Order: sequence, then structure tokens, then C-alpha cells
Amino acid sequence: VKTICVVGAGRVGRLHTRNLTESLGGRAVVTAIVDPDQDRARELAAEYSVPRTFPSLDNALASASFDGAVITTPTFTHAREAVAALTAGLHVHLEKPMAMNLVECGQIRAAERKAGTAIQLGFMRRFDPDFTEAAALVASGEIGDPMILKSLTHGPGLPPAWATDIRTSNGMLAEVNSHDLDTVSWFADAEPTDISVRVANFKGAQRGVATPGFYDTLTATITYPTGTLAIVTGACPADYGYDSRLEVLGTCGMLQVGDTGPGGLSTIAGSAGQSTRLFRSWRDRFARAYAQEMTDFVAAMDGAPVRVGTKAGARAVALVLAGTLSLLEQRTVMLSEVTDDPVTPSWQDGN
Ligand SMILES: NC(=O)c1ccc[n+]([C@@H]2O[C@H](COP(=O)([O-])OP(=O)(O)OC[C@H]3O[C@@H](n4cnc5c(N)ncnc54)[C@H](O)[C@@H]3O)[C@@H](O)[C@H]2O)c1
Repeated sequence: VKTICVVGAGRVGRLHTRNLTESLGGRAVVTAIVDPDQDRARELAAEYSVPRTFPSLDNALASASFDGAVITTPTFTHAREAVAALTAGLHVHLEKPMAMNLVECGQIRAAERKAGTAIQLGFMRRFDPDFTEAAALVASGEIGDPMILKSLTHGPGLPPAWATDIRTSNGMLAEVNSHDLDTVSWFADAEPTDISVRVANFKGAQRGVATPGFYDTLTATITYPTGTLAIVTGACPADYGYDSRLEVLGTCGMLQVGDTGPGGLSTIAGSAGQSTRLFRSWRDRFARAYAQEMTDFVAAMDGAPVRVGTKAGARAVALVLAGTLSLLEQRTVMLSEVTDDPVTPSWQDGN
């Protein structure tokens, strides 16, 4: 039985604690919850009979031993927490986005190489049966070479406050659309060449978000050296529900992944119509994927291959940084501008 420390008792920490406790047939046990908000940690621990809580990962590592850490803290803490866990010899599941910038991604990858343990990134679409079947179909050549990839995510409500500030999260491109950035590179099976992002803000003021640089709507165009063109769109808050879809147009056909809800629907008006069948949240849309993700993480501790790791994680962060530069400077940005000489981006200075 693998012992796991869950770091961060927020929305995702709660979800993974539940899956580790209830979906793995006893192959793993959460033995500690870490959160500086000790009330939150204690509440989650009590719900799933987790014996211990700690205010920091350092405290937990000093007082107990674990096989793995599931890191679900705000993005600006990922590098620190992941490096600490890897350095202590733990296997790590790290939530997306991997980190704030490529300097931090480099620190995590160096710690990974030293530790030799497994690190899995929280791109749950990689664990979803529809997405994985579609990826296998594209890889088999069934629909030819990908010409256009369209990937969208609409999130239901505003994320936590830290995630609406580009200085502490890189904004929606990172928090919401990281998943799409990973998906299109996964399906293109190539390293992106450039990205162009445009953004808008429809609902921020009415929801009381006055953070500089906040946007709730975006489109991104990404090109690949293979000629494949990708379009990523995002909106959050979309209010009507959680919506994740992908379309692949290939030289010999097309495929689509995702419907707006179980059973599907083509139009939705207003906010979350009562009679419509919708996914209310990412927890519902990807319920099976999240459970599979924890199953795979525990299997990786016994040497199974990691389905999505730090290479893909750093690639998505590079797209976030080039994309943010693109929206701030209103121009197309080559990926090489951010990858050739990794630095802390100007908008993160002082944080
Ligand atoms: N894969 C997904 O579908 C998905 C969905 C939502 C969020 N996320 C990602 O998960 C991460 C957490 O998001 P969330 O929505 O759960 O955030 P959240 O704000 O709900 O929870 C974060 C928790 O971490 C705690 N925390 C802060 N610093 C900490 C530290 N150093 N050590 C331990 N705990 C600490 C906070 O007190 C809080 O309780 C983010 O990186 C986010 O992008 C992933």
C-alpha cells in the first residue's frame, strides 16, 4: 500500500483525496494533508479519515515518510513544493500548470533527474477514455495528417482569486487553457512554432474582478512545423457549465471529442437551463479521467510508464508564456523567444 501526502486542501486536493481513498481498491492511502489553512486541512482529513495534517510540506517531510506527494497548491508554489518532494525521494503528481515559468520548470526537471522517481502532470484529458481513443485514432493514421485542431474550454465560474491574476497564475491561458495547449501539441505530435493570442473581458467588472490584466475570453492560434494549425478558445466564467471539446480535421477525415453534456446538446441559452443535460463542472466531465489519473500515479510508483510528464508540462508553460507575451504586445510570438534563454517574465517581477 502506497502512502500519499496530499499537499493543498482546496478544490483539486479534495477531488484527488476522494479518488485515492475510494477508487483505488486500497492500493494507496492518504496519510497526511498539508495546508497552511489548517482548518481546511483538518476538515478534509476528517472527511476521509486521514490521520495527520501539517501546515507545510517541509513539516510533513520532517515528521513522517511517504511514497508519493499529490501537489494541488496554487501554481506559484508548484516549483518549490515539487522540488522539495522530489528531493525527499517521493513520487509526485503535480497539478497543471507545471510552474509559473521555464526557470521553475528547469528546477523541477533537474530535481526529477536527480531523484529518479516518477513525476506525473495533472493533464486529466490524457487519462480520459474519449481523448485517449481519439489520440490513438489520429496516431493510427485513420484520418490522415492533422490539418486543423480546434480545442476549447469553457469553465463555469471564476477560479480562486490567485488564479485571476496574471502575476500569480499567468491568467486564464494557464489556469483554464493549459489543458487545450497540452491537447493540441499532443494531437499535433510536434513542438509548436509560434502562438498568437487575443483576449477580451466581458464579465470581470460585474463579478468584482479589478485585477490588472484580467481577461475572461481568449482565442489562440498556434502553428506547428508539420503545417498543422491549431485554434484554442477559452471563456471563464461561462456560467452554463463546464465544456471541453476537440475537433481534428485530417487529410482523410475528421473526428470530434466531447459534447456539452451526457447525451449531448447543440445549443444552450442563458445560464445553465434546467432542462438541459450539462456537465456542471470539470469534476463531472472528467470524473473517470481523474480516477484513472490517481490509478496511473500509483502504478507509476511501481515503475509503470508516466503517461504525461514534465516535458509536456514545460511545453505547455512555454505556450502560456509566449501566449501571454503575445496578448500583452499584440503580436505573434515565436516559441524560441521564451525557450532559448529562460527568464522570469516581466509581469511576474516582484511576486
Ligand atoms: N486538473 C484540473 O482539472 C484542475 C482544476 C482546477 C485547478 N487545477 C490546478 O490545481 C491547483 C490548485 O487549484 P485549486 O483550484 O484546487 O486551488 P484552491 O485555491 O482551491 O486550493 C489551493 C489550496 O492550497 C493551499 N496552499 C497554498 N499554498 C500552499 C503550500 N505551500 N502548501 C500547501 N498548501 C498550500 C491553499 O491554502 C488552498 O487551500 C492549481 O495549480 C490549479 O491550476 C487543476
